[in-house]
Amino acid sequence: MIPFNKPYYSGEEKDYMSRSIPADIIEKCELALEKKYGFNKVFLSNSCTVALEMAAVLADVKTGDEVIMPSFTYVSTANAFALRGAKIIFADSRADHPNIDENIIEKLVTEKTKVIVVMHYAGVACNMQKIMSIAAKHNLLVIEDAAQCIDSFYKNKPLGSIGNIGCFSFHETKNIQCGEGGFMVVNDPALIDRTEVIRNKGTNRTSFIKGEVSKYQWVDIGFSSLPGRITAAFLHHQIGKIDEVQKKRKILWEHYYKRLNILSSWGVMLPRVFDYASNNAHIFYFTCVSYSERNELISFLNSKKIHAVFHYQALHRSEYYLKSNKNMSLPNAEKYSDCLIRIPLFFDLTMEEVDLISDSIIDFYNKKKV
Ligand SMILES: Cc1ncc(COP(=O)(O)O)c(C=O)c1O
Repeated sequence: MIPFNKPYYSGEEKDYMSRSIPADIIEKCELALEKKYGFNKVFLSNSCTVALEMAAVLADVKTGDEVIMPSFTYVSTANAFALRGAKIIFADSRADHPNIDENIIEKLVTEKTKVIVVMHYAGVACNMQKIMSIAAKHNLLVIEDAAQCIDSFYKNKPLGSIGNIGCFSFHETKNIQCGEGGFMVVNDPALIDRTEVIRNKGTNRTSFIKGEVSKYQWVDIGFSSLPGRITAAFLHHQIGKIDEVQKKRKILWEHYYKRLNILSSWGVMLPRVFDYASNNAHIFYFTCVSYSERNELISFLNSKKIHAVFHYQALHRSEYYLKSNKNMSLPNAEKYSDCLIRIPLFFDLTMEEVDLISDSIIDFYNKKKV
């Protein structure tokens, strides 16, 4: 079976982790990310989920505030704000890309709106110029769910560095990984001191360590969000491998794109990378014509021992959301939920396997034609 994903390991992690782990390994990871991408301030976390939850606190979201976000995203994007009592206002995706449709955001803004959350699908940037100008006009915060976005850019600016806060994932499905992990980029200098407290269980422990206070205590609400040192040591090694990983993933992605271009003649929509965006080769996906076609293709590939998968289930149709909200129609988000397929893409995948998977997909469509 060709698996859908194989977490990236350089093979040297075990050796690296068995050496003595410096006490400041978390800071070392943070500095490495700041240096590589020019991020203002990085806070390592044990997941993107907790980074989003902290972002919701930093944005001071309270009961009744409205938060606009795409429906086609992961549960954590919405859950972080639902935990604060916010009303989630789902927006549709673009017709030509799973990202939020920037042209409908302003119509959803009310006097209760506090935050716009964007999620850059497959590491391909949303239209940040437009979104940042809507936010500036209505005095809203922008939080980037950049879970999939390591090493990806909007007009040469790293994703996660454009809104007030960016949240990333190092889950084992990501380009570089540490099993469970993530980080938060705080771009707004006014939020940095509070982030130090919130990430430390609501205590002023950082000030205590710096000798600024004589004891540390509970000063705010907070989270237990720091990864362990062993995880950080593993991750530090992976951060150093990012260029090598990206080079290989991009070659595989481009080869898929070349081989599968022909699918457009069967009405399949290939992945789009906008002029303003880079491609970090996080996912190779395409959108089938119908739900049944997508599911038949997944079964067909499975029968050939190729593990292909669908992706997010539009949140406006979720059981939890429908408990307190009326059924609504967001046709593009529904189309991506029902028709999008992701095929294997991981560091150890070979060009021969990309050819084999591409041949199998083309074979499926050829068989459908007759
Ligand atoms: C868009 C998005 N946001 C957040 C998350 C949560 O990331 P994590 O597993 O690091 O908590 C994911 C997971 O893949 C995701 O796809």
